[in-house]
Amino acid sequence: MEDFEQMLSESQGEIIEISSSKPDSELPEWRNDMPEIIPVMPLRGVVLFPGTVAPLTIERPHSQLLLEELLPTGRLMGLVTQMDADLDVPGPDDVYKVGVLGNVLRMIRQDTDETMVLIQIVERIRLTEFVETEPYLKAKFNILENKFPADSNKKWIAALRNLKESAQQFIGTNPNIPDEAQQALNAIDSPAILTDFLATNLSLELKEKQDLLEETKVATRADVVQHILNNQLHIQELQQKLRDDVEDEFSDAQRRAYLREQLRAIQRELGEGDGSDEQAEDLQDRLEAANLPDEVWENAERELKRLDVIPPQSPEHSVIVSYLETLAELPWQTLSDDNQNLKRAREILDRDHYGLDKVKKRLVEYLAVRKLNPEGRGPILCLLGPPGVGKTSLGKSIAESLGREFARISVGGVRDEAEIRGHRRTYIGSMPGRLIQEIRRVKTRNPLIMLDEVDKIGSDFRGDPASALLEVLDPQQNHAFVDRYLDVPFDLSQVIFISTANYIGNIPAPLYDRMEVIDIPGYTDEEKLKISQKYLVKRQRKENGLTTTQCPWTVGAFRKVITEYTREAGVRGLEREIGSLCRAVAAQVAMGKKKKIQVTPEFVEETLGPPIFARETKMRISREGVVNGLAYTPFGGEVLNIEALRYRGNGHIKLTGQIGEVMSESMSAAWSLMKSRAEDLGIDYEDFEKYDVHIHVPAGAVPKDGPSAGVAMYTALVSLFSGKRVSKDVAMTGEINLRGDVLAIGGLKEKALGALQAGIKTILIPKDNVRDIPDIPESARKKLKILPMTFVEEVLDTALLKR
Ligand SMILES: Nc1ncnc2c1ncn2[C@@H]1O[C@H](COP(=O)(O)OP(=O)(O)O)[C@@H](O)[C@H]1O
Ligand SMILES: [Mg+2]
Repeated sequence: MEDFEQMLSESQGEIIEISSSKPDSELPEWRNDMPEIIPVMPLRGVVLFPGTVAPLTIERPHSQLLLEELLPTGRLMGLVTQMDADLDVPGPDDVYKVGVLGNVLRMIRQDTDETMVLIQIVERIRLTEFVETEPYLKAKFNILENKFPADSNKKWIAALRNLKESAQQFIGTNPNIPDEAQQALNAIDSPAILTDFLATNLSLELKEKQDLLEETKVATRADVVQHILNNQLHIQELQQKLRDDVEDEFSDAQRRAYLREQLRAIQRELGEGDGSDEQAEDLQDRLEAANLPDEVWENAERELKRLDVIPPQSPEHSVIVSYLETLAELPWQTLSDDNQNLKRAREILDRDHYGLDKVKKRLVEYLAVRKLNPEGRGPILCLLGPPGVGKTSLGKSIAESLGREFARISVGGVRDEAEIRGHRRTYIGSMPGRLIQEIRRVKTRNPLIMLDEVDKIGSDFRGDPASALLEVLDPQQNHAFVDRYLDVPFDLSQVIFISTANYIGNIPAPLYDRMEVIDIPGYTDEEKLKISQKYLVKRQRKENGLTTTQCPWTVGAFRKVITEYTREAGVRGLEREIGSLCRAVAAQVAMGKKKKIQVTPEFVEETLGPPIFARETKMRISREGVVNGLAYTPFGGEVLNIEALRYRGNGHIKLTGQIGEVMSESMSAAWSLMKSRAEDLGIDYEDFEKYDVHIHVPAGAVPKDGPSAGVAMYTALVSLFSGKRVSKDVAMTGEINLRGDVLAIGGLKEKALGALQAGIKTILIPKDNVRDIPDIPESARKKLKILPMTFVEEVLDTALLKR
């Protein structure tokens, strides 16, 4: 039996031939003398369906004996799947009771201890009673008849047609299923067999197959199979799309090489000569004009000579031509003039971006330093922040303000060093790395290059792209950067590199060491409102050909989109939704239905549907053992409830909710601290031995870590054991130590904003974070009571209600 699966995999798909008999219509001969008792063969890891012919390899002695005793007199036997494929000698309780009736068509004894049989599967059966278990199973059985809907049932007719079409499509596009299956499918005209045929051929879990076998209603089977087919078709579609995308990415250079080759063949055919002399001359001219550095020129000359001797038909010829073209097109000496006017730089940054004062200031400072000391080896700037806060667009603005070309290289997901350093020039379509490609595209050797998502750079067997990047960024090395394709040094020292990242922790350490991080933490709702009014809506109106009068917006509409349709630290989703709304207006205006439409909260809901996000809110009532904590996530700050519960036990403690190591250490610290102060807190020490404690931090799918929940855990535990409730209006953040000090945390601004959004009125923060308070936007500061804490006692005094 094991070999059966192997056979299947060798034939690349579970294809089993279709029998030509039609059990639905006429009674085949074997039905005339149906035995009352049949031998039953257990199957491992496979479920068989009626209407198929299955080749089985029989290995187990019991099963071989079964065949030997059966065949002289009869051909019918039961086949049932065993629940546990590992059992060698399954008993009556180890097999499914619903199985199939098989008619042995042929038996081939192999030299080895195996027997091959070809079995036609003819009926569904249910085993009703086992009459013998030794040396193999024998049982009484019933035939399970298929139940059909009425022939006139229109829905059923449509469902069947649909099923057949999907099946054809599936088989047609699945390379793992041989063409015979298509023919087999076409030959089926019985709905019962159709569903069983598909159940056999779709890749399903064993249990799913068994369930389909046990279902006698053909319409239900058809439904299930249709559903599975839809899913699998969808997956196929996605796979195809992926393949196409990859092809698109790689085909450009290869296609050019291929076309060039074809062109030459055509020219030869027309007797026009292959033009290769002309081509070589032309290349030579262009290379001379390109002002190559000496070393490169030597290299180019050598290749030009090789071009002379290599026949134009050879692939090598076009490899060299592509190479020389690349050399000729690269801006070896071309620099754009820097605009050194810093005032103008600031103007452009302001023109394109609302707020971000600190960031803009820092960027201008950076430019100022460069202006004073162009050769200095400044740090690489890294704009750090969640998606959609304007990192990329700031980069573009800086480039524009300097008058430099802008190029963006997304290094997120790059695992192959060759993407940075290029592929060796060995085959048609090999290419320089992305840096050189971008330089070639922008045609100057001093562009501003943005290295996007450096925190998502990968590494695997194809090398370490991060270290390749490091080389690119290192001013000591990058004046002579050697791309493997170019094989000659290119001077990157005039390039300004700016990088971006979402999450600081993921930037490879050696890269991080070279960087100066500029935080862009995310926007408050008020800031988002301003950005929408001043930038996003203007841009979207323009894109949709609308004037301000045709599409005015109310403030309420912006607010509604901001709070109920997006949940993000940046404004990317917001811009998208504003875009959809403008499109909706444009559609109506264009059809001439209306001259203008005002976008109001009602229009928003009509167009975008019911609100998607209810804001994560604080606890509704004050309770014992439940505390509002504050967390800093890649999407911004959020309120995180910390729940503690106790029940009879003996002092064990359990922590759940995808908690990282650091967070669970703070929990231990909180636990010890409370125990050590039990007396002062008015807690009976005995209680610790009498109960088990469970601490849970909900939103379990999100991993949480860091020390900043220490204070909140401590408060939750003390509340739980002292029976004092925690105020629902208070949220807290802070690390603790075993002396009960409240220690500083990160991300105060985001946490404060998150608290405000969740409806919190008071936040307790570590005293040492007072210096960060000015970062919190003033509008938010006005609405929040921010209380600095030095010791945990103060926290308890403020947060715990006096009964
Ligand atoms: N402060 C801002 N003022 C105006 N527009 C902004 C601001 N921040 C972001 N945007 C806009 O939001 C969109 C997304 O920004 P983007 O630069 O792609 O974000 P990131 O690179 O940080 O993911 C862009 O259209 C950008 O112009
Ligand atoms: Mg970006």
